[in-house]
Amino acid sequence: SHPQVLQNKKFVVTAGGTEESIDPVRYISNRSSGKMGTDLANAASLLGADVILVTTRPAMMVMSEVKVETVKTTAQMQAAVAVHFDETDVVIMAAAPADFRVANPATQKIKKVAGQDDLNLQLIKNPDILAGLGKQKKHQFLTGFAAETENLHANALKKLTAKNADLIIANQVGRSTGGFNADENSGTMFFKDGTTIEIPLMSKQEMALRIIQEINERL
Ligand code: PMT
Repeated sequence: SHPQVLQNKKFVVTAGGTEESIDPVRYISNRSSGKMGTDLANAASLLGADVILVTTRPAMMVMSEVKVETVKTTAQMQAAVAVHFDETDVVIMAAAPADFRVANPATQKIKKVAGQDDLNLQLIKNPDILAGLGKQKKHQFLTGFAAETENLHANALKKLTAKNADLIIANQVGRSTGGFNADENSGTMFFKDGTTIEIPLMSKQEMALRIIQEINERL
């Protein structure tokens, strides 16, 4: 068993891609399976933390001590995190919240119309949950991920400052190894104090434990 170094610490971890309705039967989402976030929630719980997992993918294996809150949209995820934020010590945004939602979701199933070969969806910007928390934060340790297909490190550093986070973990997506919906991942941790730590390719479970241990050392 693991040393209970995080006893009395409260964590909120988010997981999965959010789903934005187009109509009652269709939605826009992304390839995030919720594995990375769920593994992080489990790892924090293993080390003794009180953990709330706000997830769009509740079917994943979650330790029984973790409290699960299921959401669909980015707005719902933001609201769920906000309820707990004041009493939280550590927030980890491993979810992939949709950056845009459909401006006017249809209330009935959209039908094909004879002779009409295109359909336009207007999208509007969603709130940035992590950036909002960065503006509000007092004692909380804020962790985000940067999922990038190019210029990984530069973009991660930009997100660290722009979102006022304490840690950003850069992970490459869109390759055959790691990232979305894989069992393994790799990345670079960028801390606010300038420290960087490389995480080589390993299982998401092992990576989650590494991340939680590094956060614990900075609380
Ligand atoms: O779920 P898996 O299949 O296991 O895949 C894991 C993962 C690749 C999704 C995960 O490791 C990861 O990178 N999560 C972040 C995905 C993402 O939205 O990255 P981003 O670079 O677009 O966003 C930067 C940070 O801001 C992230 O912490 C994100 O959660 C947060 N964000 C983004 C948009 C938004 N509207 N609100 C946010 O808070």
